[in-house]
Amino acid sequence: MNDTSDSALAPSFRLIEQSASTIAARSDLLFLSMLVLCGVMALVLAGLIVWFSIRYRQGSSADRTAPPSGARGLEVAWTAIPAVLFMGLFVWAARDFVAIHKAPDDALPVYVVAKQWMWKLQHRNGRREINELHVPLGQPVRLILTSQDVIHSFFVPAFRLKQDVVPGRYTSLWFTATQLGDFRLFCSEYCGTDHSQMLGRVVVMPPAEYARWAAAGPHVPGLAQQGFTLFRQHGCSGCHAANSSVHAPLLDGLLGRTVHLQDGSSFVADENYVRDSILAPAKQITAGYRNVMPSFAGQLSEEDIEALLAYLRSTGDTEGRTR
Ligand code: CUA
Repeated sequence: MNDTSDSALAPSFRLIEQSASTIAARSDLLFLSMLVLCGVMALVLAGLIVWFSIRYRQGSSADRTAPPSGARGLEVAWTAIPAVLFMGLFVWAARDFVAIHKAPDDALPVYVVAKQWMWKLQHRNGRREINELHVPLGQPVRLILTSQDVIHSFFVPAFRLKQDVVPGRYTSLWFTATQLGDFRLFCSEYCGTDHSQMLGRVVVMPPAEYARWAAAGPHVPGLAQQGFTLFRQHGCSGCHAANSSVHAPLLDGLLGRTVHLQDGSSFVADENYVRDSILAPAKQITAGYRNVMPSFAGQLSEEDIEALLAYLRSTGDTEGRTR
């Protein structure tokens, strides 16, 4: 693309990895605070150990009478202050952890399937890529990840993002890129012989260029359109359509809607729920319905299920929101 992008991918040693996403800056600040706090703590403790060993060594004339009773305040202070500081770090980190898993509504969805040994990615308009992820600058992107074989891990150091990619379920992440260029993508979970070759790159483009790139791909139907075709081909529409004679739940706008189950529990429907309902329908029966749906395990690829999810999402609303 240009000089800076080449250098970003060239093997080089960096003490501090460049920071290219909104989360990266937050993560760096947290890491630095932790480093400083732990560093100061370690130095103080090590210093005290040395000082006490010298001062109270055998035969020294140091004062060894019992401490004055007022020392309790001191003991409380050296226990409570570090406890509060470290709990503060925990709360701070937990907030960031929750934040990277809760994407904004307008985030651009990208479906990721990992396999030995490559990354397969698919965009909303149906454009597919392998080991490359093109994204627009300054726009939130949500990744929905799964694996078709073993556990992998999606790792973009410059974005400070790492997420296990697990067969049989979806994990998700989101980020907003803040720098143009190419950034390395690694698999960071040992996944077999060619684990170390499971590399890729994230290409951050100006939004206009990204739009051109997205439109330029081979002309395939959009992901939702592919999903709708599958929805009819596999007979889903036979039961789940509004005019069907079979009593089955309507699926329009299912993602993000609250679902009530026969066992009395209820929750907001997400990708994992839909996936389970396709592959293991008997697991969670919607209140007011009987379990008559067959399992579609073995009949649909991971990409097929993603297309169905995209179709379901498209039925949700007319503003193109992702959930
Ligand atoms: Cu995939 Cu390591």
